[in-house]
Amino acid sequence: MAYEAADPTIADTLVAPDIAAVRTLALTRRFGDFTAVDDVNLSVAPGQFFGFLGPNGAGKSTTIKMLTGLLAPTSGTIEILGEDFTRNAVELKRQIGVVPEGLALFGRLTAPEYLTFVGRMYGLDKETTRQRTAELLDFMSLSGESKKLVTDFSHGMQKKLALAAAVIHGPRILFLDEPFEGVDAIAAGTLKAMLQGMIARGATIFLTSHVLEIVERLCSHVAIIQKGRLVAQGSLEELREGVEAQHPGSGRAEKATLEEIFLNVLGAGHSTGVPAPEQELSWLG
Ligand SMILES: Nc1ncnc2c1ncn2[C@@H]1O[C@H](COP(=O)(O)OP(=O)(O)OP(=O)(O)O)[C@@H](O)[C@H]1O
Ligand SMILES: [Mg+2]
Repeated sequence: MAYEAADPTIADTLVAPDIAAVRTLALTRRFGDFTAVDDVNLSVAPGQFFGFLGPNGAGKSTTIKMLTGLLAPTSGTIEILGEDFTRNAVELKRQIGVVPEGLALFGRLTAPEYLTFVGRMYGLDKETTRQRTAELLDFMSLSGESKKLVTDFSHGMQKKLALAAAVIHGPRILFLDEPFEGVDAIAAGTLKAMLQGMIARGATIFLTSHVLEIVERLCSHVAIIQKGRLVAQGSLEELREGVEAQHPGSGRAEKATLEEIFLNVLGAGHSTGVPAPEQELSWLG
């Protein structure tokens, strides 16, 4: 690694500022004739809280899978912390954590067994693994579930376990695909605090979420993808200015919300997203 952390377990700030945490060049993924991710150039600076947004089927999960080595790109390049991901995949995977769309847990283990397995896979010693496993189970309110097999966990419990597993090695970059989907309000609060703590210590977070209020509160930068193509990228402030420049003199006192930016960028106008009467399903009631 070009920039080694003094304490590799703590997300550090030693990455040179001009080196992106995540960068893609012409990243493309095809499934047969269909192009799910089309020529995407993304750039995420170290320490950014980055929201990756887009409608259902836009290509978000496909992109995250490629950025974390779960899916090979058809073409294009990925750089993580300034290094080519394909050429340095093993080393770079130690620096990242991921909660993918399908969670990818081992159902026949208990939660402590699973976290121990993951911790040891990342090369943590036995004592560190034991301590972090206990802390993470407590943090995620899963301590009382240590006898159950993961396959018998509820969806939200599985999600929390996947999050715990994604951070056990102290990653410098954390990729989360819909981390708030299916978790209760208490867990969502805990999770937000954990993510903000990681950002405060210099980590980079890349998440997808359809909950735009949460993204607006947490993220400093966002990108929007539509039908596989990147249609917007920048700080929230830059995207807001872009929308306001398109609608000058609208007389609005308040700033555009992320939901308004999102709908505007996707060409859905300034509406609330409620379908026009002619679009309603007339046979429903
Ligand atoms: N393995 C696959 N084979 C064929 N098509 C696929 C495959 N994986 C994804 N796709 C297609 O690629 C497109 C993008 O899917 P993706 O899962 O990346 O969307 P998304 O932005 O994550 O959507 P959502 O918000 O619903 O999670 C979709 O049209 C999907 O059907
Ligand atoms: Mg998805």
